[in-house]
Amino acid sequence: MSNIIEIRELNKVYRDGTIALDNINLDIQHGEIISLLGPNGAGKTSLISTICGITNPSSGEVFVDGYDIKKDYRKTRKLIGLVPQEISLEPFEKVLDVIRYSRNLFGYSNDDDHIEKILKRLMLWDKKDKRIVELSGGMKRRVIIAKALSHNPKILFLDEPTAGVDVDLRIDMWKLIKKLRSDGVTIILTTHYIEEAEEISDRISIISQGKILLTENKNELIEKMGQKTITFIVETKKNLDSLAKKFDLSITKNNPLTMLNYNYKTTDDTFNEFLSDLNKLDCRVLNIDTKEKSLEEIFLDVVGK
Ligand SMILES: Nc1ncnc2c1ncn2[C@@H]1O[C@H](COP(=O)(O)OP(=O)(O)OP(=O)(O)O)[C@@H](O)[C@H]1O
Ligand SMILES: [Mg+2]
Repeated sequence: MSNIIEIRELNKVYRDGTIALDNINLDIQHGEIISLLGPNGAGKTSLISTICGITNPSSGEVFVDGYDIKKDYRKTRKLIGLVPQEISLEPFEKVLDVIRYSRNLFGYSNDDDHIEKILKRLMLWDKKDKRIVELSGGMKRRVIIAKALSHNPKILFLDEPTAGVDVDLRIDMWKLIKKLRSDGVTIILTTHYIEEAEEISDRISIISQGKILLTENKNELIEKMGQKTITFIVETKKNLDSLAKKFDLSITKNNPLTMLNYNYKTTDDTFNEFLSDLNKLDCRVLNIDTKEKSLEEIFLDVVGK
């Protein structure tokens, strides 16, 4: 897959000396949904703002569809739709006018058919003549998404689009994001909801203190999540050392009981053999306990390092 965004040795130090981005290198692939996960203050918004040209980088380079964000700002900005973390909308403007105006800002002429399509998709069509002040918080969130889509961007940044949004709207947003991806839009999302990242991303990138700690395919992360430790408490008179060696078990003896920890992976094909060996060794199983990793634990493990 080709890259639509290439970030090279990007640094951002704010005027007060805060290092928000510390040597970021990241390739974003054409047509993917990538989630940026990280604690408060990790640098997610700073990264997005820099790519979108709202904040100047201190050093490093970013290419959007092959164009340099500094030299070709107008070209790169046109390719991008941004849903910012903070909602800021003119309270007395009408929904339809907000979207029209946003499209015009990018130098495009009015296209009410396109705008109607977006508003219908976001279930805002019946609100088109309402003023912003008359909308609920969730509706306002949808208006900023409509705004970001007004000029048909190839890339959409969503900075915590579902913060404070109810479950129904969140699920609608997931559907919309997936639909946009199937239309060929590349999506970069930040979220504090791990299950959201799990639900919709192709890849996940974990950021902490301005650094990218990990970027991985979600399924590979899920594979890691598929790792379980299965603990057996068994009673036997036989020596289990060779069994422990064969299956790489950790073993704790406390006569007449033995505790065995078996590391199980979803791809494991030796588990049945292990059970059969256990049986042959006349082990009476007294207890079984399993412990598996969640994406949340993986996240906390990585961020905690
Ligand atoms: N304009 C600014 N001037 C100085 N420091 C800033 C500015 N904007 C952000 N920072 C600092 O940069 C760091 C990264 O902030 P950023 O907003 O990028 O984090 P974030 O990952 O988006 O966090 P959150 O999850 O809370 O939205 C923080 O330490 C923050 O205080
Ligand atoms: Mg942020």
